[in-house]
Amino acid sequence: MEVIRIEGGHPITGEVTVEGAKNSALKLMAATILAPGVTTLTNVPNISDVHVMGKVLKKLGATIKVADEHTLVIDTSQVDRWETPYNLVAQMRASTAVLGPLIGRFGKATVAMPGGCNIGDRKIDMHILGLEALGVRFDMEHGDICATVPDGLIGTSVTLEFASVGATENLMMAAVRANGTTTIDNAAREPEIVDLANMLNEMGAKVHGAGTPVINIEGVSELHPVTHEVVGDRIEAGTFIAMAGICGGPVTVKGFEPDHLGLVLKKYEMMGLTIERGNRQVTVSRTQPLRPVDIQTLPFPGFPTDMQAQTMCALSLAEGSCIVTENVFENRFMFASELSRMGGHVVIEGHHAIVHGVDGFSGATVKAPDLRGGAALVMAGLVADGVTTVYDIGHIDRGYERFVEKLQGLGAHVERVDVPKIG
Ligand code: EPZ
Repeated sequence: MEVIRIEGGHPITGEVTVEGAKNSALKLMAATILAPGVTTLTNVPNISDVHVMGKVLKKLGATIKVADEHTLVIDTSQVDRWETPYNLVAQMRASTAVLGPLIGRFGKATVAMPGGCNIGDRKIDMHILGLEALGVRFDMEHGDICATVPDGLIGTSVTLEFASVGATENLMMAAVRANGTTTIDNAAREPEIVDLANMLNEMGAKVHGAGTPVINIEGVSELHPVTHEVVGDRIEAGTFIAMAGICGGPVTVKGFEPDHLGLVLKKYEMMGLTIERGNRQVTVSRTQPLRPVDIQTLPFPGFPTDMQAQTMCALSLAEGSCIVTENVFENRFMFASELSRMGGHVVIEGHHAIVHGVDGFSGATVKAPDLRGGAALVMAGLVADGVTTVYDIGHIDRGYERFVEKLQGLGAHVERVDVPKIG
């Protein structure tokens, strides 16, 4: 099995360019179901979650050509099935993103109920409630949710209990084919939602207000294939920004919109980083000690939960204590327990983590608990005293393309190593 081994204490400087956003690309791929024909997606990250979504689409009858490493040519004209099997949904919860497009195109879908995952039980009750309001009927059969639209999809008003990214996306992708207009209130506002709405409109949909809490969608009778570029990955960018922050930099991170990390950059400047904003890039450096800053995760434009572990890592090296509050997922502090093996001092109280700054980390063997926690452990290894070995790096490969190579390109002493299985 492969592990990532990091020799701490080496500075990182130079330039790194991030890929297209995982959390947009997966939904854009699902949305191609709505437009029978050949859609080309560019700036697609070459990561395992994209490969899984490709398997889901092929299972439904689509064909996918990898034109170059970051361009997918997806033909959905022959999609003639609407069941998504458990083994694929279990591998990746985002497979449920085909629910809306299948209902929008065929008026039916059978999707395995997503199980929980390390960061929470990942329910889809808001997806189901919202789609039911549009006229979808759900039956549960042997772990699958079977959707039908006995009287067709009818535009309506839906208020989400929580600004759920996935629920907003599934509702949008069904509503584009409904009779009449749908209003989604308390909609998620993430840049990935805007990217999806932009592509749907390029396909002939009429989606207004994406990026605000109220999205209006006028149903249309058909959508046509397009070519669309995936928005830059703000979380991959934020991960390298956090790394540059604890190592000192200067590092220039390219390929994303700095505005998509507004609050993160503000908080990082409060922590003592110097961040120079440019056109689709930032340059990060730090010469002063890290300062503690309280963080609470919230839906966009709040502080992103996907940057929580990386930020906790940095705050663990600040002069003093602070509180990190996780409001989005119910169990997203596993990184803290792994970090304690490296000398971190974080006390968990429910949704709050009291982070006490320590003088430094010591290299250790640790396990990636999830995608972002794994990246944050590699980040801790960059400045740890000695060697850190991170196991379960499959989590990291789900969302970070060429993570090790990019860090090597910045001067980090990091490598992927084959080791015998533990235990
Ligand atoms: C998306 O997950 C992202 N994943 C997550 O990124 C991200 O953390 C999250 O949005 C929040 O920004 C993808 O886009 C593939 P939610 P999603 O629906 O859509 C609860 C990463 O590291 N909820 O906004 O699943 C849910 O359990 C991943 O890249 C319900 O209770 O997030 C969670 O606690 C991790 N019922 C909270 O809401 C529902 O019907 C937010 O979920 C839906 C969600």
